[in-house]
Amino acid sequence: MGSRARIVVLPGDGVGPEVAAAAVRLLRAVEERYSHRFDITELPIGAGALRAEGTALPDRTLKACLESDAVFLAAVGDPAFDDAPPENRPEAGLLKLRKALGVYANVRPARLLSGLNGAGPLKPEVARGLDLVIVRELTGGLYYGTPRELDLAGGRAVNTLPYTRAEIERVAEVAFRLAEGRRRRVTSVDKSNVLETSRLWRSVVTDVARRHPGVTLEHQLVDSCAMSLVLSPGRFDVLVTENLFGDILSDEVGALVGSLGLLPSASLGDGPGLFEPVHGSAPSLAGRDAANPIGAIASAALLLRHGLSLPEEAAAVERAIEMALSSGARTADLAPPGASGTVGTRGMTDIIAGALEKAR
Ligand code: IPM
Ligand code: MN
Repeated sequence: MGSRARIVVLPGDGVGPEVAAAAVRLLRAVEERYSHRFDITELPIGAGALRAEGTALPDRTLKACLESDAVFLAAVGDPAFDDAPPENRPEAGLLKLRKALGVYANVRPARLLSGLNGAGPLKPEVARGLDLVIVRELTGGLYYGTPRELDLAGGRAVNTLPYTRAEIERVAEVAFRLAEGRRRRVTSVDKSNVLETSRLWRSVVTDVARRHPGVTLEHQLVDSCAMSLVLSPGRFDVLVTENLFGDILSDEVGALVGSLGLLPSASLGDGPGLFEPVHGSAPSLAGRDAANPIGAIASAALLLRHGLSLPEEAAAVERAIEMALSSGARTADLAPPGASGTVGTRGMTDIIAGALEKAR
């Protein structure tokens, strides 16, 4: 990479600015150690942008994202907007950005990191072997479907769950290609015993599977999948599912690996990718140096790998995270029940940045 990579960072709300600072810190450390040049621009999105500029996604933020090589977003969401209509909420900024970037495949890898078996609610012998990727369709389904309406006074509301063959096909392709580089198993998750959309989903994913004869495809109903994830998480490799099911199952998997604060994601399309931790803005933790920065730092690693084609650098950041955890560092979310953490957001970030040199 000779020229400068343009990275847009969107800190957003709640703990967003703190974990964004952690991600930027690691990007700067990579830049220095590997002699790269990163052009990092921070811009507003979410509640802060709504308050200051009356829109959750200012035009200049969107423009910079579209012209970038990769976008890092920390978190959006603020309880002050809980009663606002969807278009005037902080989340609207993120949903518009996903749509504008066309990032239809949200890849959410999850595995047990070193020393964390036992940190979650599962018995260690059940959790062992948990190493999976959720591929969540991100630009369709209930999140965007019309008609949508709310008549609070009249007591009636509508949302719509549409999908087309093309939308299902492209996200299924991503899942099968991923599985080819892993354990060659795809679980397609739907609700085809009730929903027409899911019948189409199942049929299209079955067609896509024919182009990938080395990969085993199974279909599972979402309710049953939610249960299997708890009972035998080790049997999953790549899961592919529609937008809302993927949103719900990924929080469940966050709990299983010890904390939602650990999980990163990469949202991929045909242009710049969007890289964000799976967790939200966690308003109760904001400004207290309490949030786990690992989800954000691991998302920066995915940005290096998928956004800037720097796989070695990405792997070094991931090893540095493992080294920090092996050393016993624990933010509050990873501490055993009743115990407090050993480090805060900045302390954990210091340890990971310090480990990067040895991780090379
Ligand atoms: C996520 C978040 C978002 C989503 C919210 C903030 C709109 O929960 O990325 O999982 O539902 O997609
Ligand atoms: Mn979510």
